[in-house]
Amino acid sequence: MMEKIVSLSKRRGFVFQSSEIYGGLNGCWDYGPHGVELLRNIKEEWWRAMTYREDIEGIDAAILMHPRVWEASGHVENFTDPMVDCKECKARFRADQIEDSACGNPAYKGRKAAKCQAEGKFTEARQFNLMFKTFVGPMEDSSAVVYLRPETAQGIFVNFLNVQSSSRQRPPFGIAQIGKAFRNEINTKNFLFRTREFEQMEMQFFVKPGTDMEWFEYWKQERMRWFTSLGMRADRLHYHEHEPDKLAHYARAAFDIEYLFPFGWGEIEGIHNRTDFDLSRHEQFSGKTQKFFDEQAKEKYTPYIIETSAGASRSFMAFLVDAYTEEEAPTADGKSEQRVVLRLHPRLAPIKAAIFPLVNRDGMPEISRNIETALRPHFRVFFDDSGAVGRRYRRQDEAGTPFCITVDSQTLQDQTVTVRERDSMKQVRVAAGALIAYLRERLSVAP
Ligand code: GAP
Repeated sequence: MMEKIVSLSKRRGFVFQSSEIYGGLNGCWDYGPHGVELLRNIKEEWWRAMTYREDIEGIDAAILMHPRVWEASGHVENFTDPMVDCKECKARFRADQIEDSACGNPAYKGRKAAKCQAEGKFTEARQFNLMFKTFVGPMEDSSAVVYLRPETAQGIFVNFLNVQSSSRQRPPFGIAQIGKAFRNEINTKNFLFRTREFEQMEMQFFVKPGTDMEWFEYWKQERMRWFTSLGMRADRLHYHEHEPDKLAHYARAAFDIEYLFPFGWGEIEGIHNRTDFDLSRHEQFSGKTQKFFDEQAKEKYTPYIIETSAGASRSFMAFLVDAYTEEEAPTADGKSEQRVVLRLHPRLAPIKAAIFPLVNRDGMPEISRNIETALRPHFRVFFDDSGAVGRRYRRQDEAGTPFCITVDSQTLQDQTVTVRERDSMKQVRVAAGALIAYLRERLSVAP
């Protein structure tokens, strides 16, 4: 299944291997013409859900931050994975994932890494920091070291008081951000699931201590609802609770939202009660107060933070996997054939409608082009006049296009067109002049 999805992603321009012509760069991927639209639509839906409300503000912080940020956050000290090397084939493994890993020696295809470990081929585990280091300015010395951020969250924490005072928000309120994050993962795997460069969609909600568990519960429900409201199958989603003894030292509660990928359950978002850890640490390391002064109650406190931390790239992969369907579909001559269809929610679909002239004569191409010109300012549309109409439908099914509009001989008489819906394959006739209103309603796109 994963191979089919990776192959469709390449064939239809969703995702390409980074620097493919040079053999690729492990753990990095490029989004193609359809992929970038799907990714943007996911981020846009998240941005709307999170910031089109009065209690959340958005920001866009720099990727490079003061190095002390990462000392305060604990990343310099603790953001490590245990790593072992195979002395024989030189492959490198995460020591806590050996059970799932295969031997890196091509001569031993399919051999489990655990077997090599049992044979004593591995070095002792040593800690490896996952942050990418670089330098600011021309001198490559230790005073110039900065890191590519491994999470977007810190850009929010350090701007807490800037945003609070400039927007005149008072807890409970949140700050949301979408942006790139970088982790030098030891083993990248499963397509977009674990990569070295990825995007996060994070929101930190600042609340008065004592109200934190109430808000934690609220955000836990709300974030699950977001995935299902965009069509993700509820039976492929569940919560995974972090047991109290496995919680990060600063967390009071943590749940992951997991999706059932072809390789098993995998986290797509974490919801964490981070207590006052982050603001207290930044107060301690920067020497600047991070407390909120409540004018009305005349009290000062360090807010607790409820974090919702989703991967945009991982959500992309989950939406893609969830939408991928193979099924039998009837053909024009009464038989049936296999079709691959991406049942993406219309709001996420890269192309909203495709326009086809049934044949390339009798003025049908010209009418189709006029329809395309009328629709293009409102929706992402695609014109296709090549091949049998059935094949054109199949191409759009694979790209997840929810509507196909065909100009046929009846159009010449009454100016109506056929609109075929992707999932049900049902066709209805719609007046060409009413297409914008029809599509807008079906796509629920705000005017
Ligand atoms: N600020 C909290 C934080 O970053 P995390 O669980 O490390 O928490 C949050 O990451 C989300 O970011 C994950 O649920 C996942 O969707 C995404 N993510 C983390 N590491 C990733 C990687 N190497 N590749 C792709 N997505 C990743």
